[in-house]
This record gives sequence, C-alpha cells and structure tokens, in this order.
Amino acid sequence: MRQKSINISYEEYYSNEGLDIRDKELLDKAIEAIKGSYAPYSKFNVGAALRLDNGEIISANNQENAAYPSGLCAERVAIFYAHAKYPEASIESLAVTASVNEKQCETPTYPCGACRQVMAESESRSGKPIRIIIGGEKVTQVVDNIGSLLPFAFDNLPK
Ligand code: THU
Repeated sequence: MRQKSINISYEEYYSNEGLDIRDKELLDKAIEAIKGSYAPYSKFNVGAALRLDNGEIISANNQENAAYPSGLCAERVAIFYAHAKYPEASIESLAVTASVNEKQCETPTYPCGACRQVMAESESRSGKPIRIIIGGEKVTQVVDNIGSLLPFAFDNLPK
C-alpha cells in the first residue's frame, strides 16, 4: 500500500484586483452572457465565456427546460458550441459566473461535476490545459487546469 496525496493550488482575487487582463476580459464576457440565460425554474442565471486558440471567444448561458434534466449548464452550452463550430480548435481558458435577481453572486460559482467531466475531456482531446476563471463579485478564483477541479476524471474507456 502507498499513501498518496494531491495538492491543489489556485489563485484567489478580491474584487478582481490584480486579475490578468485577458482573464478579466473573459470574465466580463461571461457577466455579459448572463443576460441570455433562460432559468425560469431555478432563477439562477449563469454566464460562461471561453477563449479558443484561434482567437475566438464564445460565450453562452444556462438553458433550462420544463423537463428539468433536459436543460444544460452555461459551461457545457459554451463548450459544445465551441467544439461544434471549431472542431480543430482548443480551449485556452474559460470563465464562469452567476447572478441571482440581477445581482452577480459575491462568491465563485463552481462548475458542476458534469461540466468538469466535459472540460476534462476537452483538455485531453487537445492535450492543452484549460485555465478556469471562477468569478464572483467579491471573490474570484483561478485554476490552471481542470485537474485542480476534477483530479480523478473518468478517462478509462479502452482506447
Ligand atoms: N448551472 C450552470 O449553468 N453551471 C454550473 O456550473 C452550475 C449550475 C445552472 C444549471 C441550472 O440551470 C441552474 O444553474 C441551477 O442549477
């Protein structure tokens, strides 16, 4: 038996002070994207924006449905759209944030497990890390790759 451990490191910013200018730009796009959120059931409005290595920025939002599980998170709407439109491009970074009653949440809105799994496959597909900016009005956190959010992603189908 071997005892193993994983060390997860992340950056934390307060009121976005000191945030990298490109990260801030992406986060602003995610905030802007909240406007298109369709969340009449949860009333939790999420915006996401991602930067591709071809220079494109794709933004999206959560889309709910009366048949609840049919809805989709903002991150996956953005990721699937990006891969559908630019199958050869890789995702360099992704920002996510949320608002309730038209006020941005103060603390980070962490991507759900399913979104993390999809991000993990995007990374392994391109072989390049995705920087993830998890925004809040007061606190924003940044990780360098999905391994920091989902250390043990499912990736074991026979090749
Ligand atoms: N949601 C996202 O869009 N992204 C996340 O990472 C977490 C949750 C959405 C799904 C649903 O529309 C609402 O937030 C409440 O769960």
